[in-house]
Order: sequence, then structure tokens, then C-alpha cells
Amino acid sequence: MLNFNFYNPTHIVFGKDRLSELHQHIPADAKVMIVYGGGSVKKYGTLQKVTEALKSYQLIEFGGVEPNPRFETLMKAVDQVQKEKVDFLLAVGGGSVMDGTKFIALAAKYKGNDPETLLTGNFSPSSKAEALPLGTVLTLPATGSEMNMGGVVTYQNGKYPFMHPCVFPQFSFLDPTITYTLPPIQVANGVVDAFVHTTEQYLTQPVDGRFQDRTAEGILQTLIEIGRKTIDHPEDYDTRANLVWNATMALNGLIGAGVPQDWATHMLGHEITAFYGVDHGQTLAIVLPSMLRVRKDKKKDKLLQYAERVWQIKAGSDEEIIEAAIVKTEAFFNSLGIKTKLSDYGIEASAIDQFIEGLEKKGMTALSETRDLNLDISRQIYEQAL
Ligand code: NZQ
Ligand code: ZN
Repeated sequence: MLNFNFYNPTHIVFGKDRLSELHQHIPADAKVMIVYGGGSVKKYGTLQKVTEALKSYQLIEFGGVEPNPRFETLMKAVDQVQKEKVDFLLAVGGGSVMDGTKFIALAAKYKGNDPETLLTGNFSPSSKAEALPLGTVLTLPATGSEMNMGGVVTYQNGKYPFMHPCVFPQFSFLDPTITYTLPPIQVANGVVDAFVHTTEQYLTQPVDGRFQDRTAEGILQTLIEIGRKTIDHPEDYDTRANLVWNATMALNGLIGAGVPQDWATHMLGHEITAFYGVDHGQTLAIVLPSMLRVRKDKKKDKLLQYAERVWQIKAGSDEEIIEAAIVKTEAFFNSLGIKTKLSDYGIEASAIDQFIEGLEKKGMTALSETRDLNLDISRQIYEQAL
């Protein structure tokens, strides 16, 4: 096992009808900005429940954070935070709203004139930084943002990840019933996102991380069991509760501690969203099967373990077993209603040059757990996904 630090300070409040407890987690004298997206939280009543629970507080609302949140939008919130001296941020939404709120928290305390360098510069988890305290009310199980220190912001025409321990949410409310109103495609996106967060930390090189491997396999098997069911029966509480908790656990640092991590599927996927607006989960379903085929020699041991333990495939040559596991993975994504080829989204071979330029511009030229995934290999992966 590799050396690691594990730190996760987020207090999880899980279960039905618990928003009335929000005030227990925010200082009584705080001026709170509630950050939300395009209006689903208004339409379905979540915002009203949140403001009711916080009626004794000074509240400001900032709505309009778009999917794949944009730097310019978030900087408007930063202006308002600074003018109105807000001292606590509450995100009510999915990954985009939670990530956007983390960025607002960081940028509001940033001292220089160029907050975009938090995205485009050398900002890292070890940089000196401060952030406003924040909490979240999750409405979409997918990203794990509710219990991690990362976010992704769109700046100009690129998606830029950032990470810092000061943006861990202090608390997150996870009420599965709030997610019942999601359209089926967003639930499917969430299942795929949690699945691929797990494979990014599992389908790498073996380091005898038995807890990490078996926990990752448990998450993958659970997602396979419940994925279609929670789309077909959105109000089956236990099934949805399992999706919510698995999605959180897939990216809160637990299964990634002490093992190599890849993340190349995410980085290649971000380019597809940046240029064509394809939903994050769908980009992962496009890239992962192709990534596994192109990298099957590097990942051979873990792919065989994945085939046997997650899909119970044992018969055949190593090559056949690995291909059968990749075919099963694609079939699983398809069974959720998510297509796995670029052409399914109207994207043609001519787009690949743009994706490669996008990766190059962000310095994404040595990706994966082995840092040898260069632009030529990225090109092959996109080509195999056509
Ligand atoms: O904007 P509103 O009106 O709220 O509608 C949203 C949005 O249109 C809707 N929605 C959310 N909750 C709902 C709902 N509709 C009905 N009922 C509800 N309960 O869903 C749409 C998509 O929301 P979004 O937040 O964009 O989706 P998701 O949670 O999948 O987040 C995607 C973003 O997270 C980033 C992605 O890159 C992308 O920008 N990621 C963040 C990560 C992290 N922080 O660790 C890791 C991930 O890999 C990912 O990269
Ligand atoms: Zn993701």
C-alpha cells in the first residue's frame, strides 16, 4: 500500500425530512448566502424548506449557477459576498452548484487581482489559501462534491479542476427524497459518474490495498444492482438512499487513500463537455470503455480482478476475459439509457483535434496513474470512441 494522509472533516446529515436541523450547523449570527442553480430547487420546494429552516438568519439568495458553472457567473456572487459581507455559504443543488459555491468561497477570500489563476495557475492543495465556510444540501447524487475538497469550473472554453482542503463542506444534508424529482437522464448520469469515480481509483496497478479494492468492488456491484432500478422506481426510498450514499463514498477520499489513481477518463471527458456541452456522466461513458481497451496491458492485473470479482467472468484467455468485462461495462451504461460512442452524440472525427489542443493547453500531456498517457495515446482513445 502507498503512504497516505486521510482527512475528511465533512459532517454528514443523512435521511428524510431533516432540513429543519440546518440551524444546528450554522452560527446563529451568520449572514448566509444560499447558492442555487437554474431553478429546480424553487420549482420543487427545496429552497422554501431551506429558507423556512433558516428564518432567523439574515439570508441572501444567489441563483442562476449553470451546469458546468462558469467563472463569470461565480464572480458575480463573489462581488455580492464581498459587498454584503456574507460570512457563510450554503449550496443547494447538484455538483455544479456545490462546486460553484466552493469556488465562490475561495475567490471571496483571494487577495490578488486575478482569481482565474485559482483555476489556470499553479494553485494546489498545498497552496496557502483561505475560504469562507460552506455547507451543502445535495439535490443530485453523482459527483461526491458534498464530501470532498474539489470542484470544476468552466473558464473561457475549458473546464478547470481545483482542489483545496479549505473548501471541504463543513456539513452536507443528504436527503434521498429531495432527489426524487430528477429527470431519469440525470439519475443515469449520476450512476455513471459514481461508477467511473470508483474505476479511476480502482482500475490502476495492484498495491495490495485490500480494503480499498473490496470497498471499490462493493460500490461498483451496488451501482450495477440499483442503477436501473432507481431510474425505474425513483421514489423507492431504499434504492435511492443507496445511490446517494454510494455516490458520496465513491469520491470522498476513502477508496483512493493509499492506492494509485488515474483520472484520465475524467480529463478526456472534460474536453468533450467543454466543446460540445455533453453532460459530464455521458462523457465518462464514452471515454471509459475506449480507455480500458487502449490501456488494457498497463491495467491487466486489475482488469482481470474487476472481471472476476465484479462481473464474475472467469472463463477464457486473459484477453477474452478483459474484453468481456469491458463489453459488460458498456452494456451496463447502455442499460441506463446512456450511449457510449462519440458518434451517438453527433460528434465526428474532426472534433478530436480540438480535444487534443484543449488537453495540451491545460498541460494534460502526462496523464494516468503511470503518467505516460501522452497526447498520442489520448488521440487513440478518442479515435476508438468514435
Ligand atoms: O440548475 P437546476 O435548475 O437546479 O437543475 C439541475 C441541472 O439542470 C438539475 N437538478 C439538480 N437537482 C435536481 C435537478 N432537477 C430536478 N430535481 C433535482 N433534485 O440537474 C441538472 C444538472 O445538475 P449539475 O449540478 O450540473 O449535475 P451534476 O451533479 O452531475 O454536476 C456536474 C458537475 O460536477 C462536476 C462536473 O464536471 C460538472 O461540472 N464534477 C465535480 C466533481 C467534484 N466536485 O468532485 C467531480 C466530478 O467528476 C465532476 O467533474
Ligand atoms: Zn465525475
